[in-house]
Amino acid sequence: MASDPVPEYKEIESVYGLEGAPAATHRLQRLAAAFRKQFGADPELFARAPGRVNLIGEHIDYEGYGVLPMALRLDTVVAIRRGGDRLVVANLDAEKFPVVEYGTDPAQAVDTAHHVWANYFLAAYKGVYDFLASKGADPPAPVGLQVMVHGVVPLAGGLSSSAAIVCSSALAVMAVRGVHPTKGEVADFTCKAERYVGVTSGGMDQAISVMGQPGVAKLVEFNPVRAEDVHLPPGATFVIANSLTVSKKQETADRRYNLRVVECRLAAALIARKLGAPPAAAAAVRTLREVEPAVAEKFGPGLKGKLRAVDELLERGNYLQDKIEADLGVPLSELFAGEPSPLRVVGVVAGEGFKLRDRAAHVYSEADRVYKFRAAAEDESSGAEALPRLGALMDASHASCARLYECSCPELDTLVGVAKAAGAIGSRLTGAGWGGCTVSLVRHGDVGPFMAALRENYYSPLLASGRVTEGGMGEVLFASPPSSGAAVLRIKLAPSEGEEGAAVEAPARERKREPVMA
Ligand code: GLA
Repeated sequence: MASDPVPEYKEIESVYGLEGAPAATHRLQRLAAAFRKQFGADPELFARAPGRVNLIGEHIDYEGYGVLPMALRLDTVVAIRRGGDRLVVANLDAEKFPVVEYGTDPAQAVDTAHHVWANYFLAAYKGVYDFLASKGADPPAPVGLQVMVHGVVPLAGGLSSSAAIVCSSALAVMAVRGVHPTKGEVADFTCKAERYVGVTSGGMDQAISVMGQPGVAKLVEFNPVRAEDVHLPPGATFVIANSLTVSKKQETADRRYNLRVVECRLAAALIARKLGAPPAAAAAVRTLREVEPAVAEKFGPGLKGKLRAVDELLERGNYLQDKIEADLGVPLSELFAGEPSPLRVVGVVAGEGFKLRDRAAHVYSEADRVYKFRAAAEDESSGAEALPRLGALMDASHASCARLYECSCPELDTLVGVAKAAGAIGSRLTGAGWGGCTVSLVRHGDVGPFMAALRENYYSPLLASGRVTEGGMGEVLFASPPSSGAAVLRIKLAPSEGEEGAAVEAPARERKREPVMA
């Protein structure tokens, strides 16, 4: 439940299970050893947060609608200790992710124009202070922090590597300062915090990273954020396949992710205006969900009414800035005043125009599919029909993402086609899209032949050209059961065998506990 505290575990099995414990222990030992080498002392604790796969409900969280993801086993772990007078953020993979240092002032800006990997840590750090301020607590005086990160969620792959690092960093910072938040609080503030890196994302990724549980997918809803268990039918396996086309959300935001958020907001404002709201009231509308009551009143309830409204109130094709401003009666500079991300989008694409009708049609129909998916998954009377019903909804979701939302890409479409031909009951892109992964619903007994067919029909040229290696295939094509959400780990680790230099104790002054602040 959202009101439950974020768990703190002393045993590694609590997160990774008996089976996963040896590999996880080895990984934490490596992380601790690298930490000692970098900082000359043991970490005080670890925090971990998983990536996710979204089963259905794409690009609708920021419009206020429920989504249906599950947490993956793949996660990011952060080791942390108080010390020094800077924020020093290191990574176990030091070659790819060099050490970054920041001052400790939580008010410092995140430099979005020069994005570096550790900005996600800084965003989380700022978010912790925002959260404490929002609770009216006296924020703790900043102290230096030493941090070592290790992530295994594929980057820019649609599996929420960014939420995994933001959530694990936030938990680490809070735990080391004696703050004990609820899951709902963390889901809420980390979502806002991640926007410091410049992507105006919704709250799905952080919510499932924090509230995920083994064995169940979750219906995540917002305002306030909450999650309900969704039991998947027996025999259903979800296989994740990476298209190996990278889509960096942060770097492409102005023309992709943030542009879609802007288009939805403009569609909602125009619908409100056309339904009689005065210009200022229409301009204050932020989501398509907000205009639902007015739409239902004029066009009738349910999806049918919404699609009729979209059809009648919004024009096909691209809206240029002048046209939107004339129809709305408000300049876009005023509509987005004080919001740097949307203003940047307007600056970059206003000349080409915004597509509103198709985007709104996707949002309304995808939101409807989420509830149909949950109903089909949990309908025990549906028997053999359950999986085909889920599959059909996933296929429809992909078609809508590709045609109406235009967030697919040729490689994802090919991969979905290959998956369907290989016997997937349903297959779709997952996450923000424009690259990254697909998720396919496959009968448990068919997983082996299914993966073999994908290998043959999608990956063999990529293997031949070296884009992926045999050894790397396990990270590119895999099935993952619904797994644990984020947690703080206070685990006693024996130094890893053959580690150079024994564990170094931190000076006594730095090891004393801070007062508990929340
Ligand atoms: C990204 C965002 C999420 C969500 C998805 C698309 O993962 O972070 O909030 O909008 O894209 O469904």
